[in-house]
Amino acid sequence: MPIVNMKDMLQHAYEHNYAVGAFDLVSLDFLQGILDAAERAQAPVILSLAESHFEFFDFALLMPAVEAAAKRASVPVAIHLDHGASFESAAKAINLGCNGIMVDASDKPLEENTSITKTLVEMAHGCGIPVEGELGYVPGVEGEDAERHPGEICYTTVAEAQTYVENTGVDFLAVSIGTVHGRMQGKPELDFQRLQQINKALGIPLVIHGGTGLSDEQFQQLISNGVSKINYYTALSDAAARQIEQNASAAANSGYTGLVNNLRDAIGAETERCIRLWGGADRAKEVLARCRPWTPVEHLIIYNVEGLDTAGVKKMIAEGRRLLSAIPGVREVFTGEAMKEDDKYRYTWLVRFCHPAVIDSYREHPDHVAFADNHFRPVAGGRISIDYIAIEN
Ligand code: 13P
Repeated sequence: MPIVNMKDMLQHAYEHNYAVGAFDLVSLDFLQGILDAAERAQAPVILSLAESHFEFFDFALLMPAVEAAAKRASVPVAIHLDHGASFESAAKAINLGCNGIMVDASDKPLEENTSITKTLVEMAHGCGIPVEGELGYVPGVEGEDAERHPGEICYTTVAEAQTYVENTGVDFLAVSIGTVHGRMQGKPELDFQRLQQINKALGIPLVIHGGTGLSDEQFQQLISNGVSKINYYTALSDAAARQIEQNASAAANSGYTGLVNNLRDAIGAETERCIRLWGGADRAKEVLARCRPWTPVEHLIIYNVEGLDTAGVKKMIAEGRRLLSAIPGVREVFTGEAMKEDDKYRYTWLVRFCHPAVIDSYREHPDHVAFADNHFRPVAGGRISIDYIAIEN
């Protein structure tokens, strides 16, 4: 169960003055290390997958593992797309199991950022999924992520933040107040006054990108000024790299498993340090009690076909699978034929939605309307259609 509604999770953090760590993962060692840490600390956690890292792993292949690990956790977990590149990436991430979304248009002019984000919010909210917007620009300085965030810092202004949140409807706002992606050069100067004003003006959970390298005191000040989600990656990557170097020098002849030995623990130790520092430890129970669970819906249709031969039925089903499986919020499309010829209904669609909100957004989606009106309804004879919400322990 413990995949939970991310909006509820961050609202709890916002109201209780702590921050949930959104740890970017790039492999199973990261996934397991991060969840081990959250379990040890009994804390809520966000498993974050950054599109800028997709060259290092197959997103579609890793997501089932992320989801399986999140479901068997005892602590509340959300799964987030970090720095998504486009509307299409976001829709794909939702269909693969993300229940929090960010598409990063922070390098674009305000109007364009607003328009991209507004369209995204409409789609994601139609799937019951909250959206993080970013306003102002957080560049990269040093480390493996630096080149993925080129350019100069651009600070978030209070007035623009207010207009942006109103016009887009984002649920959380990532702000630029002096942090950078990747390693720091020297101690960063953070503009806490600006952060305080933004928080006062907006009253929604704020997000900090570029968590690596900030001091304990800076984290405390961020959190006391409305920061409820902290994005963190480089320090985990560096902890893993140090462990590999140590493994390499300890056993000159070790193979792959020798070199990656204890990576999970090294990543977990740094994650746990952050979770405790940011105030999330021992919050799991109260967060679970507060958050709506993340429960899928199964849209079931059983039907007969009139006026099509077997090849025609196959073609209609193939077209439906192609169109319907790409609609945002559709996790899976199962199409089947009754195994006994004399069963009352010959065919079925089982379409799994990520959230009850998708019942409406799916029905109204132009691809669904076109398929239903032009291909399905004209040939579907007797049929039954029911939406089932999962019963889970
Ligand atoms: P760091 O790599 O600086 O911790 O930042 C991570 C981040 O902001 C991912 O969105």
